[in-house]
Amino acid sequence: MGILDGKAAVVTGAAVGLGNAFAKALAAEGAALAVCDVRPEIADFKAGDAPVLAMQADVADAEAVRRFIDAAGQRYVRIDVLVSNAGVWTASEATDSIDKTLADAASQVGTNLKGVFLCGRAVMPIMMRQGGGHIININTDHLHTCGSPFEESHDNAPNCPFLDIAPRPTGGGPAMDLYDAAKWGINGLTFAWCQALKAHNIRVNAFCMGATDSHMLRGFHNFDPPPEEEAQWMKAEDIAQVMIELIAEGPTGRTGENIGFAMGHPVVLPPPRRNPYFIVEEEG
Ligand SMILES: NC(=O)c1ccc[n+]([C@@H]2O[C@H](COP(=O)([O-])OP(=O)(O)OC[C@H]3O[C@@H](n4cnc5c(N)ncnc54)[C@H](O)[C@@H]3O)[C@@H](O)[C@H]2O)c1
Repeated sequence: MGILDGKAAVVTGAAVGLGNAFAKALAAEGAALAVCDVRPEIADFKAGDAPVLAMQADVADAEAVRRFIDAAGQRYVRIDVLVSNAGVWTASEATDSIDKTLADAASQVGTNLKGVFLCGRAVMPIMMRQGGGHIININTDHLHTCGSPFEESHDNAPNCPFLDIAPRPTGGGPAMDLYDAAKWGINGLTFAWCQALKAHNIRVNAFCMGATDSHMLRGFHNFDPPPEEEAQWMKAEDIAQVMIELIAEGPTGRTGENIGFAMGHPVVLPPPRRNPYFIVEEEG
């Protein structure tokens, strides 16, 4: 018996890396899967005996997303979990030419932000119709809780994994401008959606990832990472188990949280925040 027996989950960017581990962990809990990726090898995706709908689809392409989610909805009738994981990184910085910037934005803002809102919009009617669901947007630790403008100090972020690290991360650095811009944009979606969808029992949270062993992170190091650094990387399978715990909180669980994972810190689900972002109590 798994916590997702009889349920269906969608994971984007599932051919390799974190998305691959997320999809397999969801399947191990009993979920039927719909997975997509731009990589053709997604066609060979398997997760034990779980039913799998695997499609080559670019999440930045509205028609491709529509086809993918329509196919998932038709096959499984329901979609209980959406993990918007597909992501790309290429170096982009302030001094780049406009032409390079436009190409980088098409790729990074396209996948990392547009892909998240397209997939979210596409699954919402299905989740609303069935009366609930879970949306988990995969973000970056460059903008974890205490690194965001919404937290002025660690006093407001007792669960912050960077509590004992100074300086706290507030961005990924000069070669991350479009990547971070897109990832910051995800906050706008996570926090608006958590409010808009609360009445429909749809929980919306984000994982703000620190260095986790994946194709992307290895590529970042030209596929020759320093062994002492590699040894500290988090494991996608451990993060995926925390995602299962988050989902297991059920319909009354937390919503509207950025949950941070930092290298060198335990990979655990922190206690729910006392004051989730943007869940503002009505006065009076
Ligand atoms: N690994 C880390 O250390 C780390 C750190 C911070 C954030 N993240 C985020 O975690 C997520 C997963 O990253 P990862 O490290 O596993 O990367 P990865 O490159 O190993 O895997 C990403 C997958 O997404 C797919 N993909 C890329 N663009 C796509 C698109 N337009 N449509 C569909 N699929 C697409 C890729 O083909 C790949 O299979 C990303 O959103 C990334 O930004 C990862």
